[in-house]
Amino acid sequence: MKVAVVGGTGDFGLALAHQLAAAGDEVVIGSRDAERAKQKGAEVGVLGAANEDAVRGVDVVVLAVKAEAALETARGLRDAIGTTPTLSVASELRFSKTGVRPRDGRSLAEETAQLLDAPVSAGLHSLAASSLAAGAAEGDALVCGDDEDAKRLALELAGKVVTGRALDAGPIESARALEGMTAVIVNLNRRYKGHAGISITGL
Ligand SMILES: NC(=O)c1ccc[n+]([C@@H]2O[C@H](COP(=O)([O-])OP(=O)(O)OC[C@H]3O[C@@H](n4cnc5c(N)ncnc54)[C@H](OP(=O)(O)O)[C@@H]3O)[C@@H](O)[C@H]2O)c1
Repeated sequence: MKVAVVGGTGDFGLALAHQLAAAGDEVVIGSRDAERAKQKGAEVGVLGAANEDAVRGVDVVVLAVKAEAALETARGLRDAIGTTPTLSVASELRFSKTGVRPRDGRSLAEETAQLLDAPVSAGLHSLAASSLAAGAAEGDALVCGDDEDAKRLALELAGKVVTGRALDAGPIESARALEGMTAVIVNLNRRYKGHAGISITGL
């Protein structure tokens, strides 16, 4: 599979790119700065390019920029991405004295889907960058989306980077829960000083 990781210079995108390349995928990381992408990519043995060039000619685009920049980035890459299946991994978090909260209203993935001509899936929210950097992340990966072909690709990708299963969590609206779960995980990590992941029982 040919995969472009937009924002792949960040902790999460770079770790994901590393694990996908280790699993045999052809991976290019994107950045707003092509040179930075090339330098960071070289650290983990993948190609680097400007975001707009990285997303052309691939099978799947992973949008892994800083969450606050996800929608602006999707808007800017709309033409370059075209109809290439796209996976949103972003969760917007609100920090407060009493803990971390998810964004209100619709998910970033749903809003991204409105901005692109491409089918959008969402997933991998529960995989910590620090865990992925060390190898496959412990636990299951949950993926949702409305387009079955795009979701199948996203599930195939997700299955390569976790020790557990890649599981279909339903339509794109499930991204509200998956993105919200990131806030839950961050609160757990803070409270118990750990690196929580998700394992689904009973299936
Ligand atoms: N960290 C985790 O454990 C984790 C786990 C699951 C999901 N996620 C999701 O994965 C995504 C990346 O997380 P991260 O921790 O790697 O984030 P990050 O390091 O803060 O940012 C990733 C990249 O986003 C790009 N970026 C920053 N500001 C931007 C802007 N204004 N416009 C366009 N691009 C911008 C930067 O790339 P350039 O400067 O090179 O363009 C940066 O390297 C987030 O959406 C997050 O919700 C993270």
